[in-house]
Amino acid sequence: MPLTALAPMQDVTDLAFMQVISHYGAPDYFFTEFFRVHAHSRPEKHILRSIDENATGRPVFAQLIGEDTTQLTRTVAELLKHPIAGIDLNLGCPAPKVYKKNVGGGLLRDPQRIDDILGALRAVCPGLFTVKMRIGFEDTQNFESVLESVNRHKVDLLSVHGRTVKEMYRSEVHYDYIARAAAGVQCPVLANGNITSAHKAQSVLGSTKTAGVMIGRHAIRNPWIFRQCRELFSGTPPTTVRLQDVYEYITRLYQATQTPEIPERIHVNKMKKYLNFVGQSVDADGAFLHAMRRTSSEQELFEVCSQHLLNEPQCPFSVEPYAGVIARPNCETPPIAECSLENITA
Ligand SMILES: Cc1cc2nc3c(=O)[nH]c(=O)nc-3n(C[C@H](O)[C@H](O)[C@H](O)COP(=O)(O)O)c2cc1C
Repeated sequence: MPLTALAPMQDVTDLAFMQVISHYGAPDYFFTEFFRVHAHSRPEKHILRSIDENATGRPVFAQLIGEDTTQLTRTVAELLKHPIAGIDLNLGCPAPKVYKKNVGGGLLRDPQRIDDILGALRAVCPGLFTVKMRIGFEDTQNFESVLESVNRHKVDLLSVHGRTVKEMYRSEVHYDYIARAAAGVQCPVLANGNITSAHKAQSVLGSTKTAGVMIGRHAIRNPWIFRQCRELFSGTPPTTVRLQDVYEYITRLYQATQTPEIPERIHVNKMKKYLNFVGQSVDADGAFLHAMRRTSSEQELFEVCSQHLLNEPQCPFSVEPYAGVIARPNCETPPIAECSLENITA
């Protein structure tokens, strides 16, 4: 059976979200959002919770972003005290603020540095050591040499987001490069980028010959996606999701992400960030998205949800996002981190 993984997403793939995803059908692997590594960094407590309190029954990899081998290896030693499945290195974050520090996607400009880092991390990871990369920075000239480093340092699993750093999130995904990675490295590869449905996963697996798929935004939109993948991979038709199921998902997500310290309005705003993706499959006109964005209290939010999801509760939730229903129009250049949900759309 091909592998499935939930893509690491900052401000999303925390303990609560992983728990909610598991309720609908957990992927084989989880990855934390990235731990920032620099001279004064300590593993962030809220990210550690997604490892220490993980009750999903599925392994969680701890993702690191950084470039200094001393600081990276020090952080690995700290993380090894926690029940991690392994260490994952981020070679893809496209936020200018990040890549200008030569970390994340910025490292793809410097294959020698990547080789040094992979060597240093491999030496201190007694268990699994994995890498998540984009296919290049501005172009793909360093692609092959990064793959060589992956082989040289015996990386255990490689996730490839088939875009360059400069392509951010909205260009076509270059699945041909993912196929080249799968053919060129000794470890299993996870294909990542715009895997919108179980059928798309199956077609990408067929064309890239990867060992599995990694899914991000479309798991926020449709948390049943991993279960649907497994159903399709084993020859059964994928579960149909109805609008009433989506109402239940939103309620569950609201409760799971609610904490006493967060004021209601801020929590509603956080919900809107997830719902930006969910709304892409509710109606073809984007009417749910439009109404949802104008709410400012729990009551208003759930009134909009019941109006759009419970009037015709048996109506199917679209498997693919509706064309033209954009989570956010101004998403090409996220100003701060790749990680603010509102800046990123399919
Ligand atoms: C909100 C958000 C936050 C992200 N944060 C991270 C991150 O912390 N680490 C990482 O490697 N990739 C991060 N990514 C990139 C995703 O892991 C993934 O590579 C990308 O979204 C493409 O996959 P998708 O089309 O399935 O969403 C983030 C993406 C989004 C949308």
